Amino acid sequence: MNNFGQGIATGKIILMGEHSVVYGKPAIALPFNQVQISVKIYKTDRPITISSYYHNGLLDEAPKELFGIKQLIQIVMVYLKQPFFGIHVDIESKVPVQRGLGSSAAVSIAVVRSLFDAFDVELTQEKLNYFVDIAEQIHHENPSGLDAMTITLGKALFFQKDLGQSVISLKMDAVLVVADTGKKGLTKEAVSEVRKLWQDNPTVVNPILDRLEELTKNVKNFLENNEVIRLGLAMTEAHQLLKLMNVSDEKLEKFVDLSLKNGALGAKLTGGGRGGCMI
Ligand code: MEV
Repeated sequence: MNNFGQGIATGKIILMGEHSVVYGKPAIALPFNQVQISVKIYKTDRPITISSYYHNGLLDEAPKELFGIKQLIQIVMVYLKQPFFGIHVDIESKVPVQRGLGSSAAVSIAVVRSLFDAFDVELTQEKLNYFVDIAEQIHHENPSGLDAMTITLGKALFFQKDLGQSVISLKMDAVLVVADTGKKGLTKEAVSEVRKLWQDNPTVVNPILDRLEELTKNVKNFLENNEVIRLGLAMTEAHQLLKLMNVSDEKLEKFVDLSLKNGALGAKLTGGGRGGCMI
């Protein structure tokens, strides 16, 4: 079987502003080029099939974890004026799933790129954003759009929901280590529990969100001016604030503690939390 279309996407790392970005506060995220997803499209003589982490077989029989992708493939095939027939979608991912590294946005982006490539149709940034947002809405319910934007642009971004983003020119003499707790994080649940906390205790949560906003704005300057020590301190403070919003867990706490005891300049969870990765 020869593939006739391919799409690639990377993971992402949120440096600052996860969760607070949902409330219109700024966030900073970087593409994580070391982990990638590659999607290849093959010609077949059957209804659409898929091979992926969650499912190997007919797209129609895909489990709930793939509903967003299933819908995305169908919508893109309609847009490309193709029948729901005659292709196999092969998803090969080096982005661990549910670890706060943007695997769901990355899969969507690589899938859209691969289908447009297979049928030789030009894909603009605007079209890519439009299609990826459909799948992200299904996965996450009202996502901020930070993951998708960071991965599609492939640049370090200062991002604000509804206001847009600017590219940060990084000037950092530092090493960023990403550690995986090995535990799956549930972003959707974490986001909805933070919302509940915010609704029930606005006087507690609003100052936390305000402080995260301040820290994120400061971090933009630190990144542009090689202020490594200040960056580390801001990251650790952001982690404490995220912990107050109940999105840390025992393993993340252990990893953060270990990092700081062993010379890290700063340490925090990254992404939705409650498992997943820390930096
Ligand atoms: C998920 O990668 C980041 C969150 O801030 C959710 C979002 O931005 O939609 C937790």
